[in-house]
Amino acid sequence: MIRSRIIATGSYTPPRVLTNFDLEKMVDTSDEWITSRSGIRERRIVEKNVSTSDLGTQAAKRALEMAGLSPEDLDFIITGTNSPDMFFPCTGCFIQAKIGAKKAAAFDVSAGCTSFIHALSLADKFIKEDPARKVMVLGAEIMSKVTDWSDRATCVLFGDGAGAVILGGEEGDRGVLSTHLHSDGSLWELLYMPGGGSAHPSSHETVDQRLHCIKMAGNQLFKVAVRALAEVSQEALKFNGFTSEDIDLMIPHQANTRIIEAAAKLINFPMDRVFLNIEKYGNTSSATIPIALDELNRGGKLKAGNVILMCSFGTGVTWGGAVIRW
Ligand code: ACO
Repeated sequence: MIRSRIIATGSYTPPRVLTNFDLEKMVDTSDEWITSRSGIRERRIVEKNVSTSDLGTQAAKRALEMAGLSPEDLDFIITGTNSPDMFFPCTGCFIQAKIGAKKAAAFDVSAGCTSFIHALSLADKFIKEDPARKVMVLGAEIMSKVTDWSDRATCVLFGDGAGAVILGGEEGDRGVLSTHLHSDGSLWELLYMPGGGSAHPSSHETVDQRLHCIKMAGNQLFKVAVRALAEVSQEALKFNGFTSEDIDLMIPHQANTRIIEAAAKLINFPMDRVFLNIEKYGNTSSATIPIALDELNRGGKLKAGNVILMCSFGTGVTWGGAVIRW
């Protein structure tokens, strides 16, 4: 059987660190509150002149280097992002131009923080159609530029970064085993950024009202997120005939340690097999899972044959999961 396998990973986070102690000087908050409520200690923030495709480009180059491929070898570049360089063209086209992937078809996926899982699911289908293809999947975000830095309820949560994986077709057991995608658009008001789109075109008023920043009902989203992560994880296990014992590692979307712990508890999944790096990066939206994959891969923590469960949720509301055999 042909499967699409992740053959290389790359990631990039900007060098500037913003700690909880820095945030104490900006809004009425404390390191103790942020750490205990979210698990986040610091996050990376870009400089003014950096755009999302710049982060994606760095991650892409690192993945290409690991794969030993040239940019011209890529057939597709699928970029998950909620903080694109511009409304159009898509961020993937900027990344394509910056790395010189002349042959690739580039497009973006916008499904909140679940975008990476959606993009992975598409890549899997492109490769099953033609196993000779090489598909790059990215999650790239500059959340700091859509953050309201006067809103303590949201500004402490997010960070900037990008991750990339390259998939290729391979005969055998290793690779993507399944993907599972969901959404419930009736819950859109739990997390949104209204300004600049056709509903609220940019104007002095939209800027004055800070409509170009994240609006979030954190408490309600928390509950939805726990249920979504637990349900999609169970769905993915059941689909593959697995129990939690068969999973070597769970890589959940890094939005809040308490959300992850509550979801793991619901499905009886032990936390010692759940990967967390939220402490260092905060919530980098669609980039959290590919950054985690790269960190684990470069750290030699992933062994051939390991079964990995990835799960995510985000604005939309969207949620999704994927099981891969490394
Ligand atoms: N510092 C200090 N106090 C704060 C802060 C802060 N940064 N933010 C809020 N508070 C206060 C609130 O005002 C509130 O005070 P009150 O009781 O006097 O009204 C109190 O802390 C408790 O607020 P809650 O919102 O109930 O706190 P909660 O325990 O729910 O934690 C949090 C808030 C961390 C936002 C949590 O709800 C959460 O993580 N929600 C999900 C958010 C999320 O995952 N978003 C992204 C998902 S999609 C994506 O990744 C793009």
